[in-house]
Amino acid sequence: MRLLINQQVGKGKVVSFRIIGTGSYLPSKIVTNDDLALTLDTSDEWIKQRVGISQRHISTDESAADMGYKAALRALEMGGVSPDELDLIIAASITGDTICPTVAGLVQKKLGAKCVSFDINSACSGFLFALDTAAGFFERGKAKKALVIGSERMSKILDWDDRSTCVIFGDGAGAVLLEAGDGYVSSKLTTEGEDDVIKIPSGVNNSPFYEKEVEKGKVFMDGQETFKFAVNTITKEITEIAEENDISLDEIKYIVPHQANIRIIQYASKRLHIPGEKFCVNIDRCGNTSAASIPIVLDELCRMNKLKEGDFVILSAFGGGLSSATTLIKW
Ligand code: ACO
Repeated sequence: MRLLINQQVGKGKVVSFRIIGTGSYLPSKIVTNDDLALTLDTSDEWIKQRVGISQRHISTDESAADMGYKAALRALEMGGVSPDELDLIIAASITGDTICPTVAGLVQKKLGAKCVSFDINSACSGFLFALDTAAGFFERGKAKKALVIGSERMSKILDWDDRSTCVIFGDGAGAVLLEAGDGYVSSKLTTEGEDDVIKIPSGVNNSPFYEKEVEKGKVFMDGQETFKFAVNTITKEITEIAEENDISLDEIKYIVPHQANIRIIQYASKRLHIPGEKFCVNIDRCGNTSAASIPIVLDELCRMNKLKEGDFVILSAFGGGLSSATTLIKW
């Protein structure tokens, strides 16, 4: 008999959530590799071969909250739910324009929703940390309908002179609409508190009382160490989550990995003996949109009618923190 960890079935009541709507939004400006090569010592060939990206969407004037709002509207429309029915909005983001109000709070205001809202920061893994947090609200009976959003304007925290980071990222948002149900099976979350591999300082000003200057915010990443962490984590967690839930990898319809580097995804496919077609990918068009990457891919899958009721899907993310998260859902 299967043990489905986060589901508590009693008196006919399943305390978890299922996804009833998805939405995404990408800013209209597309920046190709050739565009970047005009000002940077890089090339279309290097970026395609080493990372798997051809282009990315870059926001010219929209904030993480603006993009998150547009993705949220699409998820609400698909689910046929109005903002006043929402009990909870969580946004995963590291690029909000303001520390407060939060991205989720600004989306709430734009939607005119009357509910609790807050942000979660776990870098590229943030969306899956937010899903797990939302699951707790459903399990405690504190939410019947919720929105979970991943929205990032990565372009505002990049050093556009650093070719080893700025070519990798893109902007965008994805959202899922949840209602009480049996679609959230299990998740694994990890963090290390490591700051040598990936670091994004948040400093904005200098106190006259500080002994050294506060670091200003822009992405620092040791690409090779991140790569090693990513391939080890993604393969280990996908194997473990399937084993712990007594489900074979053959029974998984799709794997939605964080879109960081096509070589990480190809490596995972090979090491796990899972056909490449099961790994859903849009990195070639969107780059790495941090916490937004998984919900954007999920929305694309959903709108292509590739998901049928009862399908098992694994979502797997890794990134700054260092953090990682892998989630098993049933559609
Ligand atoms: N164009 C041309 N050459 C470049 C570029 C570029 N855009 N970037 C780096 N290079 C050069 C380097 O300078 C280096 O040159 P050298 O040998 O003369 O010194 C050479 O290419 C190789 O550099 P590496 O860093 O070894 O390149 P690598 O193959 O490791 O690719 C990359 C770098 C793409 C960053 C890769 O390591 C990677 O994808 N890492 C994982 C990133 C990731 O998963 N991030 C997710 C988390 S992000 C977050 O949480 C914020």
